Amino acid sequence: MTKSIVLLGSTGSIGRQTLEVCERMGIRVCALTAGRSLDLICEQARRYHPQLVSVARESDAAELRQRLADCRPAITVMHGQAGNIAAATIPEADTVVAAMVGVAGLEPVLAAIRCGRTIALANKETLVAGGALVMPLLSRYNSRIYPVDSEHSAIWQCLAAAPPKSLRRILLTASGGPFRGRSRQELNHVTLAQALNHPTWRMGGKITIDSATLMNKGLEVIEASWLFDCPTEKIEVVVHPQSIIHSMVELQDGSVLAQMGFPDMKLPIQLALTWPRRLPGDGRPFNPFDRQAGTLTFEQPDRQAFPLLQLAYDAAKAGGTLPAVMNAANEVAVGLFLQERITFTVIADLVRQVMDRHMQSGFMTAFTFDDMMEQDRWARGQVLHLTGQTSASEDGRPGGC
Ligand SMILES: NC(=O)c1ccc[n+]([C@@H]2O[C@H](COP(=O)([O-])OP(=O)(O)OC[C@H]3O[C@@H](n4cnc5c(N)ncnc54)[C@H](OP(=O)(O)O)[C@@H]3O)[C@@H](O)[C@H]2O)c1
Repeated sequence: MTKSIVLLGSTGSIGRQTLEVCERMGIRVCALTAGRSLDLICEQARRYHPQLVSVARESDAAELRQRLADCRPAITVMHGQAGNIAAATIPEADTVVAAMVGVAGLEPVLAAIRCGRTIALANKETLVAGGALVMPLLSRYNSRIYPVDSEHSAIWQCLAAAPPKSLRRILLTASGGPFRGRSRQELNHVTLAQALNHPTWRMGGKITIDSATLMNKGLEVIEASWLFDCPTEKIEVVVHPQSIIHSMVELQDGSVLAQMGFPDMKLPIQLALTWPRRLPGDGRPFNPFDRQAGTLTFEQPDRQAFPLLQLAYDAAKAGGTLPAVMNAANEVAVGLFLQERITFTVIADLVRQVMDRHMQSGFMTAFTFDDMMEQDRWARGQVLHLTGQTSASEDGRPGGC
């Protein structure tokens, strides 16, 4: 069981819930990193006494340094990717919780793996873009990844009860998001507020929009493929609006195992920190007679209305740099949608166009981290070019995420 963590993305939805779990389980917090939420990370630093904190911008780090100047022992304050990497490689921590949003999480995760840390992974973009870089390092550096995403945690828990090589198929469940049942035509007119109104989960802006477009499920298919060494042809997305079954595995003998419960991210977070132990949780106890759990339904996803799901399967099939390009284009397009600079259905149009252009030139089957980041930058630039925008946000992030 984890005794001490580093938390990348401490001010986000997963980050805040991770701190609640750590407090309840008596897990020490060695470092915290965040983007721009200065007040919150300052509050967290005073509460959890980490040795290092880091924020995205240099000017914010200077202010934070002043605000935390009276802390004893002193807290080191850093900024940018150097701060994330310094945090991820702190020798005192045994687990790095990757709860940052976006591909920016990849580099610190790679650094933590090289130090032999256990990774509790929420940041799915890391494996989508860089699975080919991450996975071979795990055995070389005696590191491991424990999933935090609820679907992957469910699959992991089910597979723990299955003999090796007995997996036939993964059934990855999806709530269907706020627009389940709508046609492509109807989706032309949805608003940002409607897209942010997820029926079952309260999450950060980027993942909430990804859930509305079903790109989140596409990213999860690729994440599951890497985590469980399972080709995407054997991963089927099942829309299950009640979000009670968090995913299922079908075994070679035809048996299907499912992991169930009311939606609550604190359980998968706790499990990733206590594995293989199962300690008391504080979630809402399961009640099969509750209205939400009383009737469980399953549907096929609508790939016409939600084309990003199919694009993710296509990207996984092509492999190489295409998933990274798809992910980067999606990050910028979602950022533009969150700033209300493009409409909902344009997100998929942009991602498709950038993927097509990449397949025409620039596609690589094998790549280094630098190659991948170059293609990532190219894809971000393409989305801005296609939409006539000059920048995503002042620091280059797709704003609003
Ligand atoms: N929320 C969920 O229930 C859930 C479930 C499964 C998987 N996930 C995955 O977990 C990740 C986080 O999701 P979330 O919902 O927690 O997102 P979120 O609420 O938007 O939080 C994102 C976190 O990343 C931080 N961040 C952004 N840029 C950063 C940078 N350059 N350096 C350091 N930190 C940075 C943010 O800081 P500031 O806010 O201070 O800018 C914030 O702490 C995503 O990859 C998501 O797909 C989330």
